[in-house]
Amino acid sequence: TSNALWGGRFSGKPSEIMEAINASIGVDQRLALEDIAGSMSHAGMLAATGIISSEDGAAIQRGLEQIRGEVLSGKMQWSTALEDVHMNIEARLKEIIGEPAGRLHTARSRNDQVATDFRLWLRQACERMQILLEAYQTALVARAAEHADTVMPGFTHLQTAQPVSLGHHLLCWVEAAERDRGRFADASKRMNESPLGCAALAGTAFPIDREITAEGLGFDRPMANSLDGVSSRDFALEALSAATICAVNLSRFAEEIVLWTSKRFGFAQLTDAFSTGSSIMPQKRNPDAAELVRAKPGRIAGALQTLIIVVKGLPLAYSKDLQEDKAPVFQAFDDLELALLAMTGMAGDLSFNTAVMEAAAGEAYSDATDLADFVVRELGKPFREAHHIAGSLVKLAEGKDVPLANLTLTDMQSVEPGLTDKVFSVLSARASMESRTSYGGTSPVRVKEQVKLWQERLKER
Ligand code: ARG
Repeated sequence: TSNALWGGRFSGKPSEIMEAINASIGVDQRLALEDIAGSMSHAGMLAATGIISSEDGAAIQRGLEQIRGEVLSGKMQWSTALEDVHMNIEARLKEIIGEPAGRLHTARSRNDQVATDFRLWLRQACERMQILLEAYQTALVARAAEHADTVMPGFTHLQTAQPVSLGHHLLCWVEAAERDRGRFADASKRMNESPLGCAALAGTAFPIDREITAEGLGFDRPMANSLDGVSSRDFALEALSAATICAVNLSRFAEEIVLWTSKRFGFAQLTDAFSTGSSIMPQKRNPDAAELVRAKPGRIAGALQTLIIVVKGLPLAYSKDLQEDKAPVFQAFDDLELALLAMTGMAGDLSFNTAVMEAAAGEAYSDATDLADFVVRELGKPFREAHHIAGSLVKLAEGKDVPLANLTLTDMQSVEPGLTDKVFSVLSARASMESRTSYGGTSPVRVKEQVKLWQERLKER
């Protein structure tokens, strides 16, 4: 027999292949609770406006409530023949309450229904990411507070550049996470308009009240254009863009964890809780979680790419292509959730070898800028000239295979006769870090101010 919900003009059955390619229930059953919420709101509105009787409205609410229980307890049976979550739930409603179930779909289409469900789901997912980002920030700020005074090498081109505070480095990722949080908040706010009542594409002749359903479902307003309501997916593209950027930010810190925990760097280690072994090399401790976070942008940017290509070139209004919007979104948000949890876990788990970091911070002439700055400050030379003097001293020290601090004053004066003993006071990694007190700079004084600000900001939320 033909489909009970739309089969009036059909006499034959779909082929098994048709059914297989058409069905989305395997994916969209994750929208079950949103679908029920949307239907309850719609039915309430239909009863309030007198489009259906209040008895039918009450029966629909009762039936949907029962289905919600069945979904939550895992008892709901999903059928591929019923295509998707919407028709599965409506068919089940009919089993439970009979004839009134058929009135639920008045003034509604699956097109506005699915757009509504998806926005509800994604709005919540964006909120969840914001909560997870805050937890990640909280973990990082705690570590930054511990390590405001820890000196480490700062890098450019992954070459030792200037000493920085480990706390400062960690707060950099707190700032990035804050922008990620903001992007999810923006996406969530912009998507928060209700498509419900746009019906198939053109709106409806029934005297519906879209304000009621929009408000009931927590949307800011009903969408103003029915074609837009059923066909736009840029809200999902925006959320996936935010997810991709967030995943990229996480992957960069993940890569640093991989580097820092390597024997070559020796800056940090992860405990057994966040390490794995090798099946052949008994000595190994691998940072697999960090590596997997580093890899996540592959999957998450892939999801964004998938949906961009699905939506590209689609004419108005709904086309079945849009059914392919959910799998990449679910996958990306599942991946990102796990990545955020793993990064939060690792941020708390890392222990730092502060002596190794400080020693590394003093290597490779990382104090050469401090020497040049000293020449500017004490001898009044233009920076370009001071840069040249410091460069010559680095060359001299390199020839002797010693750090700048181990040159003699005679060595110093052979390059710049004006130099005095005082120069040695600026030649240490710690002195270098402590001297950089400009706003946003790495001096522990500044870092502690920022830690305090972040602690207050995170507590207020
Ligand atoms: N399962 C569909 C989707 O996810 C629901 C909308 C179907 N609408 C239609 N006219 N076939 O997009």
